[in-house]
Amino acid sequence: MTKIIKNEFGSLKNGATVYAFTLSDGCSFARILNLGGILQSLVFPDKTGTPTDVVLGYDTPQEYLENDGYLGALIGRFGNRIDEGRLEIDGKIYSLYLNDRGNHLHGGREGFDKKIWDTEIITDEQGNEQLVLRYVSVDGEEHYPGTLVVQVVYGFINGVLSIDYMAVADQKTAINLTNHAYFNLDGDGAENSVSEHFLKINADRITPTDKNMIPRGGFKKVAGTPFDFSSFQKIGDGNARIEEDADMINGNGFDHCFVLNGQNDDEPACVAYSEKSGIEMKTYTDQSAVQLYTSNGLFATGKNGKAYGRFGGFCLETQAIPNNVNVPEYAAIASSIFEKGEPYFHSTRYAFCVRK
Ligand code: BGC
Repeated sequence: MTKIIKNEFGSLKNGATVYAFTLSDGCSFARILNLGGILQSLVFPDKTGTPTDVVLGYDTPQEYLENDGYLGALIGRFGNRIDEGRLEIDGKIYSLYLNDRGNHLHGGREGFDKKIWDTEIITDEQGNEQLVLRYVSVDGEEHYPGTLVVQVVYGFINGVLSIDYMAVADQKTAINLTNHAYFNLDGDGAENSVSEHFLKINADRITPTDKNMIPRGGFKKVAGTPFDFSSFQKIGDGNARIEEDADMINGNGFDHCFVLNGQNDDEPACVAYSEKSGIEMKTYTDQSAVQLYTSNGLFATGKNGKAYGRFGGFCLETQAIPNNVNVPEYAAIASSIFEKGEPYFHSTRYAFCVRK
């Protein structure tokens, strides 16, 4: 049975108290904050039984506000970039807040990752407790149209972390939510790069980007490129090939959207494992794409004073293709434009075990 314990996590400079909710299923736990719905810790026993925290994070809430990187946070209203913040809805142009080289990234100046969410603990039919987070993003926030009501439910049962997103707006608007956890299956910290991790992604194509990491159209086949994770490839082997591929140069390593071959509840979109810890993570999602980011630009001091650097973690941000609001061929795969009252749903599961 999953039980949730609520503790004070700390306070922000503005005086607000931030709470941590620890979802424990017996031998492992997930800790989530009401600030940004941040996944602050995710601890499993490795192959030797040693508890291993497989996500990067901070020990105090203020660090989450002051540092870049969106560690563990919920992202909204829009995961990843929108070209020049341009959102056109029924002929009207909305200029979204520009926070990344003249473009809109991860919801703008103050995205969902920096908001205090309302919380509620609920119990499912089997008696497992789940954490519900709610946030109302008002009309015009970050220049988006419509008031958006968002609900995210975190569950944690038998080593499976589930994140179920739901949102609905009172005007036609754009919605593309995700979670920005940085995983390291050997445990967070400088000595543990993810370069030796094996990764498989069920995707034959990525979306190429320009120098500012904007996908503007077209697809690129992964076969023969560093992006070929159709069978297990070491993350470091791909990142060692930066110079041979223009997209890898633009991202300074993996920072790209993989278009999933299909959405299937039974088939994982991605599988990652580390031989060192033995920990394996399978990602299941109903989304059409996943952004692989190998923390190419991360330099931070994290939990317990640990140094987090380049390739210190990997993100698998399940979502619709970035910038699809400006690229019809991407919107044809999954559009992030939702009508007034039309519900947005997104379900992702990260399933952990020790690999046999
Ligand atoms: C983006 C990166 C960005 C990072 C910010 C990722 O989702 O794809 O380009 O630097 O988030 O931490």
